[in-house]
Amino acid sequence: MQKKILVTGGSGYIGSHTTLALLEAGFDVVVLDNLCNSSIESLNRIENICGKKPDFIEGDVRDEQTLDKIFATNEIDSVLHFAGLKAVGESVNNPLTYYSNNVVGSLTLCKAMVRANVFKLVFSSSATVYGDPIEMPVREDFPTGTPTNPYGRSKLIAEEILQDLAKSDSRWSIALLRYFNPVGAHESGTMGEDPNGIPSNLVPYISQVAIEQLSKLSVYGRDYPTPDGTGVRDYIHVQDLAEGHLSALNAIDEKTGVNIWNLGTGVGYSVLEMIQAFEVACGRSIPYQVVDRRTGDIAECWAAPKKAAEELGWTAKRDLSDMMADTWRWQKRNPTGYKS
Ligand code: NAD
Ligand code: UD1
Repeated sequence: MQKKILVTGGSGYIGSHTTLALLEAGFDVVVLDNLCNSSIESLNRIENICGKKPDFIEGDVRDEQTLDKIFATNEIDSVLHFAGLKAVGESVNNPLTYYSNNVVGSLTLCKAMVRANVFKLVFSSSATVYGDPIEMPVREDFPTGTPTNPYGRSKLIAEEILQDLAKSDSRWSIALLRYFNPVGAHESGTMGEDPNGIPSNLVPYISQVAIEQLSKLSVYGRDYPTPDGTGVRDYIHVQDLAEGHLSALNAIDEKTGVNIWNLGTGVGYSVLEMIQAFEVACGRSIPYQVVDRRTGDIAECWAAPKKAAEELGWTAKRDLSDMMADTWRWQKRNPTGYKS
């Protein structure tokens, strides 16, 4: 029998690409999403690509009754938990909303999993939990840092709750996947990132400048101690990330307790390198101006991807030109994202 996976937040950016990968790999999928930051159109696009569609439940991960019903009516093997809010600036203005969705949401899900006797969980964490790392590349055994905003704190708190939970009950097998900077889109150009309003992340912003929806990129600081003075990050293609989730799902079948894996490429690129790579992909120039540093930003952050390679047999395969070409294809074909 095919295994059935519950994917919370499965119509969002990373969740939808992972849902597609799961369906393509032969899993059955139930998506739970309240659509607060995504469109159900992403699931139609999945069907167009692979001929299969996940079951979809519109609901909130904080709703116990909805969760109990899903577990009662489906034989769920494992849960991939993407549902949550992710905008750093918004989290500063609305901390309670962030703690509620990201912390209470995770708690409510775990309680429902216990009631349903399901103990395999893959959690979407972030490199933000490392704070300002002591050295590069960042390994999983580095201490977690002090997040500078409620979003980052909500991820760290959720990680710590999951650690306590696994210590208290050996039936749990939990993967904490610390993503570096997810970018890119499905190579078909029909699925991708669809941010609400003006993007705060670099690649969606560049891409909207390229399509002339925004006039100019602001480069946040050129005085960092990096080769060209701009911030350096480990950008990872969302399709590689999706494949990383399938590898983690396999791995937690064999393991118990909490396992932490970085999902990154191990290579850092500066903001100026990113602009240049996007210009090559889209054949247009990206106007930019250098402005002050953004509060809370760090100079550099890239992953040591060795643990994931050794323990999951997973490495990122797509390079920067793939990330940019796929982002551009998605942007060009869907200038207003999933809204049309
Ligand atoms: P996204 O906003 O595209 O997807 C999240 C999905 O969760 C959305 O479809 C949203 O509607 C849904 N959702 C939010 N709160 C919910 C709730 N209470 N109940 C049900 N559904 C809810 O974001 P994404 O980029 O796909 O991120 C997925 C996960 O990965 C998030 O937990 C995020 O914090 C984490 N993460 C993302 C990044 C990134 O740069 N994109 C980096 C590190 C970690
Ligand atoms: C940000 C969040 C982080 C979150 C991650 C993924 C902050 C401080 N951090 O990480 O918590 O996990 O997104 O969603 O918001 N840049 C510009 N101009 C722009 C946008 C970005 O120069 O308009 C620069 C930034 O200074 C940084 C790099 O581009 O050096 C990447 O920025 P971004 O895409 O926002 O990701 P992070 O800051 O790494």
